[in-house]
Amino acid sequence: MTFRRAAITSVGRFLPEKVLSNKELAKMVDTSDEWILARTGIRERRIVEKGTGTSELAAKAAQEALDRRGISADDVDLIIVGTVTPDMMFPATACLVQDKINASRAWGFDLSAACCGFVYSLSVGSQFIASGMHDRVLVIGADVMSSIVDYRDRATCVIFGDGAGAVLLEASEDDAGLIGFEHKIEGAGGKFLNMPGGGSRHPASNETVQKGMHYVHQEGRQVFKYAVRRTYETTTKLLDRFDMTPDDVTLLIAHQANVRILDATAQRLGLPPEKVIKNIHKFGNTTGATIPLALYDAVEENRLDKGDVVLFSSVGAGFTAGASLFRWGGLRNGDG
Ligand code: UT7
Repeated sequence: MTFRRAAITSVGRFLPEKVLSNKELAKMVDTSDEWILARTGIRERRIVEKGTGTSELAAKAAQEALDRRGISADDVDLIIVGTVTPDMMFPATACLVQDKINASRAWGFDLSAACCGFVYSLSVGSQFIASGMHDRVLVIGADVMSSIVDYRDRATCVIFGDGAGAVLLEASEDDAGLIGFEHKIEGAGGKFLNMPGGGSRHPASNETVQKGMHYVHQEGRQVFKYAVRRTYETTTKLLDRFDMTPDDVTLLIAHQANVRILDATAQRLGLPPEKVIKNIHKFGNTTGATIPLALYDAVEENRLDKGDVVLFSSVGAGFTAGASLFRWGGLRNGDG
């Protein structure tokens, strides 16, 4: 077995057409465009038509990544889907995606780490490339948060949106690719952000429905404080390990949960605004999808050149925290 670096060689995304603006939300709950914008940075978010499963969004994002790369789904070895809103408890969303895109040779699984779902999936997928076991891994972050949000609860419904982003991992041909990662879970924080109903402990019943246990429950302030502290700690620990400083980072592509978390993180790390990707105003918090959607925008806006250092970072329910460093090698298209 030879050790190889995993590089991101293609990107794809899918966003539902339907836009839910702050003004529309203000007609549904006691909130305002001003409050949402000032406290979260969100202007609008995308919402699926009722009955649309996460696999549909995930498959479309994956297909775009394959099309941009110019390869067939038959070339994919492994599909990992970071999601907390699978179409159903089982089978895994990855199986549904495999079927939808006709990835005839692929195996796959879902990875449940809430907002860290994509970052963790990226690290896991990279190991199969590094070990030489696989040549092409699809890593997808996708969530239909509108399926688990209570649109009567102003504290949560204004934040979330639906979407999917995908990347293709392949072996690097030079020093580009995954430099390293730093991940941590702290289960004691689980009580601050969860969806208690529908699992083995509280299976669906009239009672769980009546008690609203199939919705997202969040103590926003607790999560906010944890996110700011842990993002800083995780990213600096990772940079230290590779004798790097924030000055070495070209772009911070962090989970888009709240623009104030992004700003506080950037300030703590001493990163100027031009080094931080922000697209939360367009899509809100799409959980597993925010980071690949932000990477997609960075690519579209030509904000990455070969050799640049990208810092991915996220914090989410669990608590989960994670960061990874990639040296950008550029996207590939056509054979190669
Ligand atoms: O991706 C998963 C990880 N999740 C996160 O990272 C979320 C982190 N947390 C947050 O982003 C913020 O805590 C929120 C956006 C959820 C809330 O913002 P906040 O500034 O922490 O507000 P708060 O919860 O401290 O509430 C302040 C006030 C309260 O009113 P009182 O008690 O001061 O009268 C809330 O009832 O704002 C009120 N409030 C609202 N007002 C208008 C809460 N939500 C709304 C709303 N519209 N949508």
